[in-house]
Amino acid sequence: MTTEMKQTEEIIGRAEIDDYEAILSVVGTEEPDGRHVVHSEYDSIFTWDYEKGARPKLNKLYEKAKKAQWNGETDLPWDTAVDQEKLVMEEAAATGGFAAGFDLSGTPVERWTEKEWLTFGVESQNWTLSQFLHGEQGALICTAKIVESVPWIDAKYYASTQVMDEARHVEVFGKYLDEKLSGHYPVNAHLRMLLDDIIADSRWDLTYLGMQIMVEGLALAAFGFMHQMTGDPLLKQLLRYVMADEARHVAFGVLSLQEYYEGLSASELRERQEFAFEAAVRMRDRFLQQEVWERMGIDPKQVVPLVHQAPDRAAFQALLFSKIVPNCKKLGLLDAADGWLRTKFTELGVIEFESWVDTSEEYDAMAATPPTERLAS
Ligand SMILES: [Fe+2]
Ligand SMILES: [Fe+2]
Repeated sequence: MTTEMKQTEEIIGRAEIDDYEAILSVVGTEEPDGRHVVHSEYDSIFTWDYEKGARPKLNKLYEKAKKAQWNGETDLPWDTAVDQEKLVMEEAAATGGFAAGFDLSGTPVERWTEKEWLTFGVESQNWTLSQFLHGEQGALICTAKIVESVPWIDAKYYASTQVMDEARHVEVFGKYLDEKLSGHYPVNAHLRMLLDDIIADSRWDLTYLGMQIMVEGLALAAFGFMHQMTGDPLLKQLLRYVMADEARHVAFGVLSLQEYYEGLSASELRERQEFAFEAAVRMRDRFLQQEVWERMGIDPKQVVPLVHQAPDRAAFQALLFSKIVPNCKKLGLLDAADGWLRTKFTELGVIEFESWVDTSEEYDAMAATPPTERLAS
């Protein structure tokens, strides 16, 4: 075994990134009392430097956020009727039909008819929105923690608006699942591992790196795809508003960490690179939707490797990293410590996005005007 392999194994618990056997062996459980406790020790920092605007870019973001608040209860067309099966059929038609492009012969789903694929599509949507919901709660907790732990007043101000944003996101995804879809899923085991690692870490910048850069960077891309794909006007509008908030959140991460990372040593940066790599792998593992296959009565180990090695699927999955990679580059994380993260992102097949637009200024372009503000002006 080479040193390189040992490093990967120490960080993600397996030597090969695409070891499906190992990935699918990690199965989630939900606590019977309905609570998941993560222990975390960290410093809550007061600052006596109250000078507002000492960090002008964070101040500008804070002022934007105050104006961009919307009300999840009243600003969305909740009276829209949602026909989940019809939407799944339409989406399948738009992409060439169910399981188009996959050779599934010799697998347990070989003889699936349109009926099974339709059920799978509906379950897949329930699963996806459930993971968004759990991820949003993770963001709520992380950002509340940042309010306490970040040492700068402009960052505390901004983070407090993000706490409100995330509460609203949890609220609207929860409501959409309850009122418009047909079932919930527990948090995926890989997503939970990642959220636990982010929350348990005592260093404030790792909360940002894990949540604002990695989780929210991926969410921004994923919400963007769903916004484009969905034929449901309610979900489209909901995602439009959420994405406008998320673009600010990712910018908050980039603008805060840019300053902080300039002062870190190569070995400190290497720790951040390893954390970013671990987060990228956990998020990739979660895309396998193993719980959906299980609910359909199929052993995911027999199907998942085929589905996820299909060329189209791999390209789509890589695109989800199109926000993360340029942001890591902007923070100096790609090339620090002899380019360790560049090598890892190359192995993950996502390095091609390094020169795409980063998110530090993109939030202006993504701003949505909530109906409340349109009415007022
Ligand atoms: Fe959010
Ligand atoms: Fe967010």
